[in-house]
Amino acid sequence: MNVLVDYQLHFGDAHHDSEHQNAIVVRDLNLWYPDGNHALQDVNVEISNQEVTAFIGPSGCGKSTLLRCLNRINDAIPGIRIEGEIELMGRSIYDPEIEINKLRRRFGWVAQSPNPFPKSVYENVAYGPKIHGLCNSKWELEAFVEDCLKAANLWDEVKDRLHEPGTGLSGGQMQRLCIARALSTKPDILLMDEPCSALDPLATAKVEALIEELKRKYAIIIITHNMQQAARISQRTAFFHLGKLVEAGDTEDLFMNPKTEKCRDYVSGRYG
Ligand SMILES: Nc1ncnc2c1ncn2[C@@H]1O[C@H](COP(=O)(O)OP(=O)(O)OP(=O)(O)O)[C@@H](O)[C@H]1O
Ligand SMILES: [Mg+2]
Repeated sequence: MNVLVDYQLHFGDAHHDSEHQNAIVVRDLNLWYPDGNHALQDVNVEISNQEVTAFIGPSGCGKSTLLRCLNRINDAIPGIRIEGEIELMGRSIYDPEIEINKLRRRFGWVAQSPNPFPKSVYENVAYGPKIHGLCNSKWELEAFVEDCLKAANLWDEVKDRLHEPGTGLSGGQMQRLCIARALSTKPDILLMDEPCSALDPLATAKVEALIEELKRKYAIIIITHNMQQAARISQRTAFFHLGKLVEAGDTEDLFMNPKTEKCRDYVSGRYG
């Protein structure tokens, strides 16, 4: 079977067929940076579909490192060593038959500070589908860009300025533009690394409301240093400390009844 077709069968919209399947399973993951730093140590975690999972923990505990393992961005670092298994929709991300660009397309990435390309609002969203050949005509592309901007709750604010620079929007609008861009490759999973840390409270509230809507369609992992935010928007939380996953579970449980002292201290703001 053609690899691409095979890939689509395994990965394309798989989570719509079975709501309860895990989007991601990480097993016994270990990572050493080239300087020998053992940044992830025996990490096991499961990420459910149609839920928001929050990664929390003190600075340097490995949250971003783990996120960058999922879409295999870390693989590009010369001298890095990664051991263990990561499955996306039941299939190893290290399967040699999987093309890395097609794997990365399954993940939408939203960074800490809004970072639109220095291009128009339209081109920011049209770029991904163009390079991945996801639309067959200009008309289809235009309709798809509109869909992505609507899904990011941004369309009404930008529909009359689609051809103005994306960098000319407000911070909160730029971050929603980046979310529209993340959606434009038709991902299964959204990876968000502190997406609200550069936003004011109103812009943060809009992004949080958007995450609440997006979780119906995507598995979402959000890294946040804001405990209230984790409690507000996530259904599951994983607490990391010094490269280890210390505790993971239902968000309310983890915040109300943390099982470990480290987690209790962290979520109560006594540490970190
Ligand atoms: N490219 C890299 N090369 C070497 N070491 C790195 C690299 N990136 C991160 N590290 C180290 O790996 C450890 C985990 O870093 P990571 O960025 O994953 O932490 P984090 O939990 O995301 O922290 P923060 O909350 O500050 O963003 C830290 O000790 C960090 O210094
Ligand atoms: Mg980080």
